[in-house]
Amino acid sequence: MSVNDNPLQVMAQWLREAQTSSARRNPLAMALATATADGIPSVRMVLLKGFAEQQGYVNFYTHHESRKGTEISVTQRAAGVLYWEEFGGRQLRIEGPVRHSPHDESDRYFASRPVHSQLNAWVSQQSRTLEDPASLPALATQKANEFGITAAALQDGGPQEIPRPSHWGGYRIWIDRLELWSEGAGRFHDRYCYTRKFEQQEDESFVGTNWQATRLYP
Ligand SMILES: Cc1cc2nc3c(=O)[nH]c(=O)nc-3n(C[C@H](O)[C@H](O)[C@H](O)COP(=O)(O)O)c2cc1C
Repeated sequence: MSVNDNPLQVMAQWLREAQTSSARRNPLAMALATATADGIPSVRMVLLKGFAEQQGYVNFYTHHESRKGTEISVTQRAAGVLYWEEFGGRQLRIEGPVRHSPHDESDRYFASRPVHSQLNAWVSQQSRTLEDPASLPALATQKANEFGITAAALQDGGPQEIPRPSHWGGYRIWIDRLELWSEGAGRFHDRYCYTRKFEQQEDESFVGTNWQATRLYP
């Protein structure tokens, strides 16, 4: 790895290697940090569900009215970190503006999910108080009945043709700061930092300047 590498290409390579390794379940689990307008941070795991190498964004899916969703709606920014012990110690950090994924993209992903995930997206009030845990399966069954989903289809578990709830969908984190860190001998780790400036387009996408690359003390 060199500081002159295209950071999005290296990132794509790291994600590919993680995905094809059988070292663990959920190799693309990312800690996602958001904050309130007055700077109180919060962090939780999400699963990366896509990386657009050319444009430079990742996506994940969640409840728009969850804590993270509420914070993103205010600050429109997030930061994420992934760590892979299995490749000798690699840390990937990303930061940038966040926007909703286009509706059709969220629809397609929702349509591909197992029916129980689909129903859960309908009935979960993610991040709110759950007074009665036993009510959740009952709500899911009620929803399944509303959509006319048969017991056989529930047993099968495959995706069903039901609409996506508007409170659930994808986000894109457009990367304007990226750090590649890899463990070196004798604590001389490699740490490369890449930044770029974004110009927002009318369709809520971003176009970036060339990357500014620097090495940082690890
Ligand atoms: C490995 C792992 C992956 C997860 N992936 C997601 C995800 O992709 N989307 C999601 O909404 N929650 C996911 N969760 C649950 C979140 O960590 C979290 O509990 C939930 O999103 C509520 O977070 P919030 O209250 O901070 O918004 C995942 C949890 C784990 C442990």
